Amino acid sequence: MKLIITNSYEESCKYVAQEMVSLVNANPVAKLGLATGGTAEQVYPHLVKAYQDGKVDFSNVTTVNLDEYLGMSPDNPVSYRKCMDNWFFDHVNIKKENTYVASGLNDPQAEIKTFNQKLYGDKLLDFQLLGVGVSGHIGFNEPSAVLTAGVHIEELDESTIQANSRYFDSPADVPTKSITMGVGDIMKASKIILIATGDSKQPVISKLFADDSVSSDLPVSVLKLHRDATIVIDRALADKC
Ligand code: GLP
Repeated sequence: MKLIITNSYEESCKYVAQEMVSLVNANPVAKLGLATGGTAEQVYPHLVKAYQDGKVDFSNVTTVNLDEYLGMSPDNPVSYRKCMDNWFFDHVNIKKENTYVASGLNDPQAEIKTFNQKLYGDKLLDFQLLGVGVSGHIGFNEPSAVLTAGVHIEELDESTIQANSRYFDSPADVPTKSITMGVGDIMKASKIILIATGDSKQPVISKLFADDSVSSDLPVSVLKLHRDATIVIDRALADKC
């Protein structure tokens, strides 16, 4: 696992976007695993800008998103589908039919099948973008006695529900379950970049680099087993770790 420390969160976002642009330029039919969350959000404007500046072409790129809340309609403004449309897909030349964000409304078992088909029907992910939860989750794979390899329904950690409540009108509206790639799905991507910033991520980043252990109590630690995983954090966060 590689660590990159940048001067600022803005620089981290630029760095991650530049890596993605280079990857797509080298492989115009790249299959990208994408992420939502407040940290990953600021990567997308840089991708849109690169597209507007004529530096990248997304017309033959396909994408699969990490996760979605269970019960969430794709039309809901806080759904991950809407986030992806608003932040990225609607502003570049990607074909909408080549993008997949799980539907939280469909029958979960049927949606797991579709998710797997999108992940494995043609080729594996060339890249996966990740954020990390305050619980140490990647995708929505929460700390637990065991981790799940494949796409599944996951019960959200109390700390995740708390952290995500900022996007909902009332705490009662925050979904408690999700449909998510499993850790095995994430680990099959050829290249992984995780971006983290902010004081709330200090405990998980400190734990991640404290030693060489891999533990289901800290799902993000599985990235230590990947041959091309990079953690990108800014100096402000690094100084606190
Ligand atoms: C959500 C997403 C994760 C994301 C995490 C961190 O729960 N499912 O994929 O990495 O939150 O979000 P944030 O960057 O807003 O802290």
